[in-house]
Amino acid sequence: MKNIKAIIFDAYGTLFDVNSAAEKCKDKIGDKWEGFANYWRTTQLEYTWLRSLMNRHKDFWKITEDSLDKSMKAFKINPSMRNELLNLYKVLSPFKEVPEVLKKLKDKNYKLGILSNGTPALLNELVKSNNLENIFDNIFSIEEVGIYKPDSKVYDMPIIKYKIQKEEVAFLSANTWDVSGGGNYGYSSIWVNRNNNIFDNLDYLPKIQITNLKQLLPKIESK
Ligand code: LAC
Repeated sequence: MKNIKAIIFDAYGTLFDVNSAAEKCKDKIGDKWEGFANYWRTTQLEYTWLRSLMNRHKDFWKITEDSLDKSMKAFKINPSMRNELLNLYKVLSPFKEVPEVLKKLKDKNYKLGILSNGTPALLNELVKSNNLENIFDNIFSIEEVGIYKPDSKVYDMPIIKYKIQKEEVAFLSANTWDVSGGGNYGYSSIWVNRNNNIFDNLDYLPKIQITNLKQLLPKIESK
């Protein structure tokens, strides 16, 4: 990986643990909390893709609510938990190594950004609630282009802002489809494979995969 000028992170699932909202309620939800959390996440993502294809945009917060409502019905979760789950989604926890790695990257000479489906308000609150303000040069939200990942208009944003080449972006995501989306676009996409998952068959294979963000700098600087 030569000539990386910007390190751009996906937010949900990559920096922040999307299952942490349901996990914090596992005493109330019981053993099904993880199945429920995965169903909520999958439904949320499906709604982003479907709304983009249908040309019926709704912002990520409304999609998060809509997908939660379906998931709560599917898993027979007590409706009284709705607000608690939504409030926890606004302050998701980061994966444990994330704060220290981001603080180290801040001292290096890369542009640092988030590129996410989240609304600007959601992303700012997530960063703030985890004491990560002042780390990022930019927080790019798809609301600026009005369509979800993996539309190329989303991946265009950092390229236009920083006036750099696509391959000069190291784009990190734990979401395989987002790694494929960024890679097909032309980014140097890196897969954060935290759980020993299987990669997609979508015309792009990441040259670099890491199991957590601590492995990022050695990889970027050694190649
Ligand atoms: C995001 C979703 C894909 O943050 O996790 O854009």
